[in-house]
Amino acid sequence: MDRQNWLQISSLLGSWLLAGQKLFAESAVFNEASLGQVRPEKVSDRLAMPQSRIQVPFHKADFGPDFCWGAASAAFQTEGAHEADGKSHSIWDTFTQRPGKIKTGEHAQVATDFYRRYPEDLALLQQMNMQHFRFSLAWSRLMPKGIGAVNAKGVDHYNRLIDHCLANGVTPWVTLYHWDLPQVLEDKGGWTNRDIVNWFGEYADFATRAFGDRVKQWMVLNEPMSFVGLGYQMGLHAPGRRGLHNFVPAAHHTVLAQAEGGRIVRRNVPGAEIGTTYSCSHVSPHRDTPADQLAAAKMDALVNRLFIEPALGMGYPQNLGILTRHLEKQIRPGDEANMAFAFDFIGVQNYFRLVAKHSWWLPGLLVEEVPAKKRGVPVNEMGMEVHPEGMYEMLKQFGSYNGIKKIVVTENGVCYPDRLHNNAVNDQGRIQFFQDYLVQVRRAKLEGVPVEGYFAWSLTDNFEWSEGYHPRFGLVYVDYATQQRYLKDSGRWFADFLA
Ligand code: BGC
Repeated sequence: MDRQNWLQISSLLGSWLLAGQKLFAESAVFNEASLGQVRPEKVSDRLAMPQSRIQVPFHKADFGPDFCWGAASAAFQTEGAHEADGKSHSIWDTFTQRPGKIKTGEHAQVATDFYRRYPEDLALLQQMNMQHFRFSLAWSRLMPKGIGAVNAKGVDHYNRLIDHCLANGVTPWVTLYHWDLPQVLEDKGGWTNRDIVNWFGEYADFATRAFGDRVKQWMVLNEPMSFVGLGYQMGLHAPGRRGLHNFVPAAHHTVLAQAEGGRIVRRNVPGAEIGTTYSCSHVSPHRDTPADQLAAAKMDALVNRLFIEPALGMGYPQNLGILTRHLEKQIRPGDEANMAFAFDFIGVQNYFRLVAKHSWWLPGLLVEEVPAKKRGVPVNEMGMEVHPEGMYEMLKQFGSYNGIKKIVVTENGVCYPDRLHNNAVNDQGRIQFFQDYLVQVRRAKLEGVPVEGYFAWSLTDNFEWSEGYHPRFGLVYVDYATQQRYLKDSGRWFADFLA
């Protein structure tokens, strides 16, 4: 059905719900770019890859003595061992089997074999003079049935990993959920089933009791907008479901689970620092007109505010029309208070900026994205705009909320085409990227935003979700044929900078 037909039919039916579903399914607002993932395009002309090293305009000491420097990763993207030691399948194990879902049909059954090679990867982290490591737990490794019985071998694995970190002076920062829901729970409706608040609670309770004696830095969820939007609205990520009727309940249950998760960590882990992470993208209006400014404000609400504001006790953003109304219909007695939790820190994850313009033919939101490719701006290999000031803008924006005590940049990084040559990867573009973004982190910090840490995405190259292995975000290059690791020049830059 083309857009013309859809508009006629929906106005005939007079159904805003149908319009809304279709709107979001087709909308350029609610697209891959706005949710954090962009399909690669022909971008070689505009890759932001300067060839010369700039003078570093700051020192490690400028960020303060207690600033946490580290690298981040996620279970599904690195561990492999997809059926080892009693692990069950997650929704991503299933999704990667579905034809056409992953570019070139790649899967993550082996990934970077981090399950077995973590000592080597942690040695590389230390070689970069980093003392903090962010990783996630695979729910389906710890509780193969999602709830109930615990898998002792899975628990042993994470005990070994955590102990190995600590024995080497590396602080583990653990994310409870980085998108790999056990398939058995998706079979019961996944995030669209309100019971997930209890399922997730049971898992969070177990994990924090098992590891909370040694792990003090916890993050409840990774980027709710990404996994709910891409997984339950757009169908581009696992579990591949589409439509507002999936998105809306999944979003509300996610909001409840993020706060409930926070309460569980608080209860179980004395001395815990509890956070949760958000994808965020500064949104600029296309033109300096009231209509485009309004469009930018709506896009900002959708991509940046939808999940953090309920946690801060502010409820859902009010300017999203039908979406706001549908979300609020999900709220049951008692939910409003349960949606809030006083996190100790907020994880900011920033990759690109967005530009919004007013659009007449989208009746619900009147918003359209102006893609980076149409604006002729520098982009990474996935077509995301490289815009360091956007990091500053988002830190200022999040820093201006009442109730945020501390911010940690829990992910920031870039994919450029890397070439292994003579056992080395000369990635000057990535070095420039980190320098430019760190300038902006420091700028926000100097202006009083309480930024206390920075994690590069990612420690090693890894499985980039529906893009497969092609985009490489690592500070460490992985030769997937041999599983050999090579520290990229950007990793060497961090080693010098943090020495
Ligand atoms: C996710 C990572 C992902 C990265 C790069 C973030 O949205 O948390 O898992 O690899 O972006 O696309």
